[in-house]
Amino acid sequence: MSAPKPTHLSDYRPPAYRATHTELTFDLDSHATRVKARLHLERHPERAQEDDLPLELKGAKLELSSIAIDGQALEPGEYQVDDKGLTVPKVPTRFHLDTEVVINPQANTALEGLYQSNGMFCTQCEAQGFRRITFYPDRPDVMATFSTTVVGDKASLPILLSNGNPVERGELPGGKHFVTWEDPFSKPSYLFALVAGDLEKVEDHFTTASGRDVTLQIWVEKQNLGKTDHAMASLKRAMRWDEETYGREYDLDLFMIVAVDDFNMGAMENKGLNIFNSAAVLTHPQTATDATFQRVEGVVAHEYFHNWSGNRVTCRDWFQLSLKEGFTVFRDQSFSADVNSAPVKRIEDVSFFRTAQFAEDAGPTAHPVRPDHYIEIGNFYTLTIYEKGAEVVRMLRHLLGWEAFRQGSDLYFSRFDGQAVTIEDFVGCMAEVSGLDLGQFMRWYSQAGTPEVDAHGEYDYANATYRLTLRQRTPATPGQPHKLPLHIPIRMGLVGTKSGEDLTLTLEGETLGRDAVIHLREEEQSFLFTEVAEAPTPSLLRGFSAPVKLYYPYERNELAFLLAEDSDGFNRWDAGQRLAMLAIDDLIAAHRNGVEKVMDVRLVDAFRSLLTTSMKDKAVLAQMLVLPSEAYIAEQQPVVDVDAIHAARTFVKQSLALALRDEFLAIYEANTSDAPYAPEPEQIGERSLKNVALGYLMAIEDEKAVELAERQFEAKHNMTDVRAALTLLTHSSRQDLADPALKAFAQKWASDPLVMDQWFTIQVTRPQPDVLDRVKFLMEHPAFSLKNPNRVRALIGAFAGQNRVNFHRLDGEGYKLLADVVIELNRLNPEIAARLVIPLTRWKRFDDTRQGLMKAELERIRQEDLSPNLYEIIEKALN
Ligand code: PHE
Ligand code: ZN
Repeated sequence: MSAPKPTHLSDYRPPAYRATHTELTFDLDSHATRVKARLHLERHPERAQEDDLPLELKGAKLELSSIAIDGQALEPGEYQVDDKGLTVPKVPTRFHLDTEVVINPQANTALEGLYQSNGMFCTQCEAQGFRRITFYPDRPDVMATFSTTVVGDKASLPILLSNGNPVERGELPGGKHFVTWEDPFSKPSYLFALVAGDLEKVEDHFTTASGRDVTLQIWVEKQNLGKTDHAMASLKRAMRWDEETYGREYDLDLFMIVAVDDFNMGAMENKGLNIFNSAAVLTHPQTATDATFQRVEGVVAHEYFHNWSGNRVTCRDWFQLSLKEGFTVFRDQSFSADVNSAPVKRIEDVSFFRTAQFAEDAGPTAHPVRPDHYIEIGNFYTLTIYEKGAEVVRMLRHLLGWEAFRQGSDLYFSRFDGQAVTIEDFVGCMAEVSGLDLGQFMRWYSQAGTPEVDAHGEYDYANATYRLTLRQRTPATPGQPHKLPLHIPIRMGLVGTKSGEDLTLTLEGETLGRDAVIHLREEEQSFLFTEVAEAPTPSLLRGFSAPVKLYYPYERNELAFLLAEDSDGFNRWDAGQRLAMLAIDDLIAAHRNGVEKVMDVRLVDAFRSLLTTSMKDKAVLAQMLVLPSEAYIAEQQPVVDVDAIHAARTFVKQSLALALRDEFLAIYEANTSDAPYAPEPEQIGERSLKNVALGYLMAIEDEKAVELAERQFEAKHNMTDVRAALTLLTHSSRQDLADPALKAFAQKWASDPLVMDQWFTIQVTRPQPDVLDRVKFLMEHPAFSLKNPNRVRALIGAFAGQNRVNFHRLDGEGYKLLADVVIELNRLNPEIAARLVIPLTRWKRFDDTRQGLMKAELERIRQEDLSPNLYEIIEKALN
């Protein structure tokens, strides 16, 4: 195969022809679905002056059976079809094109376009799946109204859905029936959706701010009817929140969600017909953990919010992906913060971000929030586009303040409603309403990599001044050796070391208050605070006000002080993380040098006061008690020493458990309520605190702890507690207890794939060295299938991503296993293969031996006939 070629942002041009209205008829059949399309096409006004432009439509894996223009069939010489699409050299300036194609949904294991999942038909069109359905100008700047008729067997496919409103239905000969759907809103093809199957619905209603009634439906397979309550409640909360917070009202009379088992991503915002991975919508106290409940709430909101940020105003081209994703993630994060515990939400998001997005920035696939070229857009649904994109929007919100930010958002939605636009259009609205110069700020979109800020402070007793000096640099990333300084908003306070109070900040004669944002724009900049009454400890980057690494040479007693006193909850947590990191660093060094490991008593003292002073928000306390993850610790090291990290972190955990056993036990006992399960913040906080405490106790496996874990598993209160207990038993040395528990669990849940996914994950994340055999054994389990992305993620993804000591075994067997699976998935599902291979691409971060082993596996994968997805990732990794 010849090397696939990249697409460049700088080559953007409007299309030669655009579709204004699209009529589709699907005659559904597993092996041979017939798709008739009538496209109403016209020359794009911006290209009216060019003569003789051919019509070029995208198309992949389509068998063309007829083609006509304005009712006139084309002769074979009048058009060409190849593996990329259809070309008609001569066409009028305005016309309609009729085509009929045959496609094979059954053979579609890539899960893009029209495919089958458990016998039901469904579609996934973002980013470029529509071209697998029919020949089309499949690009987001072509927006048309759609009218879709779905024809199917009435007995096996009683439900036929598409975007918009149903306008006609009826019976057809041969046991078939049809439904016609009309979507009055112009949309790009990536938002098209069709679902057909034997589905049941749960229905509810929502009255919009202006008093319109919207019917809400969640469609599931019959056995899942009892698992939709939380998604429905979340949807209604999200609809209300978007009205109240952003002034955005829903625009159709019907909003549908469908749960699908085989799905590459979390969910998809198709207009009026959101399609969800069943893992991101189904919940039940007995089958889903608190984390899943919260994820469902977040994803339901995210997809719903896309109706404005994405659908009504969409992206001009795929380079602008973060325009809809960054903004929508920011919106869903704010929603979750508002309806749950805001500090916990921020801690969770940042903790994940600093581990996973920073790692992406430090690896071979690093790219800016707006990339300038790609081979396969499917590879750009990344943490950088989504989460860093959200951080950039959050910075805008901080720079403008909420009022102006909201005005900018209103302006953006009104000015660009019904259009496909760019990131400049969005930031332009923010600049216009605020009068701010956001020129330098735009570099956040074009420059890849994690900026590093060194902070240094000096207190002058004689003059009562404090000078804060900040220096920024962004390390080189592939293709971007030189970086320019960014505009970095740093929220901060100066905490009086005696009083523990935030001191008033006076900068250049201006009083800023006790908590303020300072603007770092230069490579190096000094800030002189005056009238600083006492020596302060700086609290910097509060709330993680910018996606950077901030270094300040804190002493351990200063960190203990901030952990206890900082008025910013996020920075209290962060001070604890920094303190734990210092202790872990010492132990990593001790492990490497083969000297005795000694626990830092200051960390023990800090934990003791956390455990004994009552804290209102238990979920925050739970977060404060969680040590930095192995992945996060690895991010801080120049060369990752997998075994030393594991040993050091385990030692800290065990030392804390030994020293504070009674305190952890007391916390456990104080937080075991048997109130009926509810996914409410307070209960969730209690459960997480209790389970963190149990985790410490199980780290030393004393009898009492084992007994508590066993009892918690047996009590079966809810999946959160059951899973926590089963994980702790399985990860302990007590296999005599874990094995029967795992067996009982599997017997009970054999027919619930989402619970079996948890069963897979629990086992493959065991730290014990025999786990690789378990992984191989489980891949043969009847509940496992390489064709289902959730199964692959739960088993292979969890092993490679969460079981660091075993994935990075020194004999290379962990790498080999991953490469074998990636090679198989390259044929079945290229998008999933390209995601799964990522841990191998980070080889440069490890020691020479591991580097060699990882590279060898990448080379082996390279020998295959690679999909463009995998080709792009592997080339980046090996260059
Ligand atoms: N646009 C979807 C979302 O962010 C994600 C997605 C992308 C789903 C591509 C499927 C395919 O909500
Ligand atoms: Zn999204």
